Amino acid sequence: MSENNLIDIDSGDEPMSNHSDNPHFSSILEKRLSRRDMLTGSLTAAVAGMFGTSGLVNVAEAATSSFLPPQVGKPPFALNPSLGFIAVPPTRSDTATVPAGYKVQTLAPWGTPLTGSYPAYKADGSNTGEEQEQQVGSHHDGMHYFPMANNPNAHGLLCVNHEYVDQYNLHAGGAINSTPRPTDQVRKEIAAHGVSVIEVKKDALTGEWDVVSGNYNRRITGNTPMEIRGPVRGSDFVKTVYSPNGTMTRGTLNNCGHGYTPWGTYLTCEENWAGYFVNRTGLPREHARYGVSTSNGRYRWETAASVEDHYLRFDASIKAFDSTQDYRNEPNGQGWIVEIDPFNPNSVPKKRTAMGRFAHEGCWVAPPQLGQPVVFYSGDDSQNEYVYKFVTKARYSKNVNGDILDQGTLYVARFNEDGSGEWLALDINSPAFQAAALAKGVSFEDQADVLINTRLAADVVGATKMDRPEWGTVHPQTREVYMTMTNNSSRSAGSIDAANPRGPNPYGHIIRWREQGNRSWATKFEWDLFLLAGTQTDSQMLPEQGGPALSQDSIHASPDGLWMDQNGILWIQTDMSGSQQLSGPFGANQMLAANPVTGEIKRFLVGPNDQETTGVVSTPDGKNLFVNFQHPGDRSSASAGFTSNWPDHGAVYRHPGDAAVVANPSGARPRSSTIVITREDGGVVGL
Ligand code: FEO
Ligand code: CA
Ligand code: CA
Repeated sequence: MSENNLIDIDSGDEPMSNHSDNPHFSSILEKRLSRRDMLTGSLTAAVAGMFGTSGLVNVAEAATSSFLPPQVGKPPFALNPSLGFIAVPPTRSDTATVPAGYKVQTLAPWGTPLTGSYPAYKADGSNTGEEQEQQVGSHHDGMHYFPMANNPNAHGLLCVNHEYVDQYNLHAGGAINSTPRPTDQVRKEIAAHGVSVIEVKKDALTGEWDVVSGNYNRRITGNTPMEIRGPVRGSDFVKTVYSPNGTMTRGTLNNCGHGYTPWGTYLTCEENWAGYFVNRTGLPREHARYGVSTSNGRYRWETAASVEDHYLRFDASIKAFDSTQDYRNEPNGQGWIVEIDPFNPNSVPKKRTAMGRFAHEGCWVAPPQLGQPVVFYSGDDSQNEYVYKFVTKARYSKNVNGDILDQGTLYVARFNEDGSGEWLALDINSPAFQAAALAKGVSFEDQADVLINTRLAADVVGATKMDRPEWGTVHPQTREVYMTMTNNSSRSAGSIDAANPRGPNPYGHIIRWREQGNRSWATKFEWDLFLLAGTQTDSQMLPEQGGPALSQDSIHASPDGLWMDQNGILWIQTDMSGSQQLSGPFGANQMLAANPVTGEIKRFLVGPNDQETTGVVSTPDGKNLFVNFQHPGDRSSASAGFTSNWPDHGAVYRHPGDAAVVANPSGARPRSSTIVITREDGGVVGL
């Protein structure tokens, strides 16, 4: 979309801001692919070797580990899950399409009353900003389900990210973007961002899920006070008139993917936050490398008619004598992993700065081991940015809490051409880091400086530029990591490397790696490509093992969301652009299920018009699968008709062979929503 300098912030057309000279390896692919000769060429034999007994984490250890204490009743893990459904064909219909034998309900769409006076959703968009602060936000994205111990498969807390807003669907009569912007429109837009903590319960008689009007319900928005923790706390980089000692900031923005911790907290991740700010007085490197605008913020919040400082703060221009008198440092409060305790509605969210600052897609924990560091993976979703991991300094025990995220080592990945890889420490005290910085002529004052400028630090050590890292997931038993690289239109044929072997890369791929000795905190790893997504003539499973191309049952592009479930099914969600959905053979955005052992992939779900399928998690028994449809029918102007009326037109889902649902341009406005997918026979979803 593009009007008033608004851009589709999730389609990869944020301006590229990595201009470092880190090398691309144009000759790598040939060397890398020559490894095929050493392999059998048989998919089955190759993967059997990959999952050989010596490479597996002890199964008993995984089954009895304290991984995710709330996961009561976790079913036995199936190493080789068979996909027991008939694939959904590529399709376009203004509804969810699921395999025969499955059903779908909506749960907590945008505007659902959640807290306070529980203001009802108004279908004409006339809810106020104050009401939006008490309703479920917009543009659902990453999400986690925290089960209640006494009824884990039918009662829990759903934490849902709200990535951004479609201004024209949000407001009655559309958005007013002339300056100054109406204060309440700005208030509503800020309130529609952030996180919802939603208590949900399944009715024992009807089997339907619903929102509970309980005390856990909470809205966290772009304006919620938050504590700055870790090495950046108190540094000059985050001192503002709001927090002269640099310990607090307000709001979390562009909450994309997510994570959770073994101690039962939620992690929300700030992705394309830079565009919300403007700085007209010269960009310091901690603004420039992330793409802060010099002309205006994405939604022009800085032009709100109100002169209250929580609107003015989006203008980071220098306006006073020092940083404690203006908001020059406001953008430095964004770009972090934020920890939220969903079971304590009064807790102050904490920005865990030791984990780095970039366009965080999400944050994925490796199954922790008692007495060892806890490890989190994260990707920086922008063209030619990097893959990171964070290793805590403290060791895991049953008594740890989120404060162990305040000390540790942040690493960035280098994917070598020969299939090996290295984690490079971004640590001011590391001699290797100091030498690399010196060689590049770059200096950092302290670790706070390194973290505020994480991208620059990663440039310095020579990390591998990737094709837009999106979601990752860690195999619950092997600790092998899978991560989607969604696409990269800026990679040229001359700048391909082994880990990003197509230039340009319109379809994306999935890379995976195994840490040395299966120790998540190791500094070396081995990697290969799991999947090159695309058409039937330009795709391949396990390319280094000579795997097959995708079929009509599995073609897709722009993989984004990713989750390995309790049974070992790898769920893959797509975020194809509008033109990729309309012009290609893929149908609308969708979710596929893969067996990582055999390489079998089948399309499980196709969503309504113009949405992105993102966010997936289940109840511990695997029988209720929660998925988000984000931005059905987004539009770029108030006068454009609705291209989707989902879900309020009532056609929530259909099966293949049923008539397609056609949108009515003057019908109900579309709403992002969580859906719950169950089997009609009550079985485990996917198997
Ligand atoms: Fe918000 Fe990179 O997806
Ligand atoms: Ca995404
Ligand atoms: Ca995406």
